[in-house]
Amino acid sequence: MLPLPLLATSLATLVCAVSARPSLNYLENPFGVESESEEVRSEAIKRLLEVFGMEDPPLPRGHKQPPQYMLDLYNTVADVDGVTKDPYLLEGNTVRSFFDKLRSEQVEFRFNLSTVGRSEKVLTAELHLFKLRSQTSAALNRHHFCQVSVYQLLDSSKMNVTQGKKLLSSRLIPIHSSGWEVFTITQAVRSWMLDEGSNLGLQVVVRSLAGTQMDMKLVRFASGRNHHQSKQPMLVLFTDDGRHSATLESKELSDAPASPGLPHLPSAGLASRSARSLDYSEDYSASLPCQRLPLYVDFEEIGWSGWIVSPRGYNAYHCKGSCPFPLGQNMRPTNHATVQSIINALKLTKGIETPCCVPDKLFSINLLYFDDEENVVLKQYNDMVAGSCGCH
Ligand SMILES: *[C@@H]1O[C@H](CO)[C@@H](O)[C@H](O)[C@H]1NC(C)=O
Ligand SMILES: *[C@@H]1O[C@H](CO)[C@@H](O)[C@H](O)[C@H]1NC(C)=O
Repeated sequence: MLPLPLLATSLATLVCAVSARPSLNYLENPFGVESESEEVRSEAIKRLLEVFGMEDPPLPRGHKQPPQYMLDLYNTVADVDGVTKDPYLLEGNTVRSFFDKLRSEQVEFRFNLSTVGRSEKVLTAELHLFKLRSQTSAALNRHHFCQVSVYQLLDSSKMNVTQGKKLLSSRLIPIHSSGWEVFTITQAVRSWMLDEGSNLGLQVVVRSLAGTQMDMKLVRFASGRNHHQSKQPMLVLFTDDGRHSATLESKELSDAPASPGLPHLPSAGLASRSARSLDYSEDYSASLPCQRLPLYVDFEEIGWSGWIVSPRGYNAYHCKGSCPFPLGQNMRPTNHATVQSIINALKLTKGIETPCCVPDKLFSINLLYFDDEENVVLKQYNDMVAGSCGCH
């Protein structure tokens, strides 16, 4: 067993070296010298997918146009670079849109929610229907409003329900209006998440104010079957997958002590140290004080542009530079870093490096993408962009 302080130092050295190196290249170090190895590349891409909460990249296909609602939502929560504008705008971290699978002539809809993780917390679910302008105008002018009700279809053989449906949402809508109408159907989606087999779909009923069912020619909604793709019925689901802090970081720390490869740690540290000193001799900026520098993550270069709608890439930034004694307040040092730099300057204890230049504020980014089932998903990822750097 390594003595604990030594372990901590070698870990710190590793973390320091990692943060000092831009781009994905840092993943090369633990694997040795082969810099362009295909194996390392695929391992690196796999790790990057994990950061984005996926096991495999969605299959890029000839995609349709994403729903305007999802594009608008993305532009509301994110700037052009994908960085979250306001962290309190979205309640959860995932929004999905689903298209109707039934494509029925009736006003019935069914959505396949199989891509939603079992552990995800359903916050809100909405049915978005596009109401078309009514065809018969003059004849029925005495009606101004109609009552539109959305029902969850139930299996009447399993439950003691006479009608076989449950009212989810009901609203008065002007008969001659046209445009999107949104109904809350959270209850139904929660029950479908518990039992996928109970998902028999939704039914919409339109009644006059007197309560009689109205002719569906008078009040019409666009269907996936007969109308333009941009007006398709859609289910929009807001969830939270519970992934909030960087899982990678905590994984690294908790994995390390249990790892049987412990004796290799010092040599891994050495390898990265030499890589770092190589960097230093080549790179003029190494002598500059700790600062934030650009690091553009290009999704096209990574090969993900086939399924990511937005952004094309983002500036993650990276922290680089030295943290020499004495650390000024502009280095945003922690007390611990200040003491470490003093100990390093005094050379009281061997092997104590100067503190590391690392991100000390992180921002989230948003991704709009197509999943394997061609649903459009908006997902927010925490701690993706270095907002500022400091000596830690
Ligand atoms: C939903 O989609 C999944 C994946 O394509 C499929 O396996 C499943 O059978 C679908 N469920 C229904 C009810 O169509
Ligand atoms: C359904 O009704 C039957 C007979 O009316 C009754 O025995 C049964 O307990 C009811 N089941 C539920 C779930 O209420």
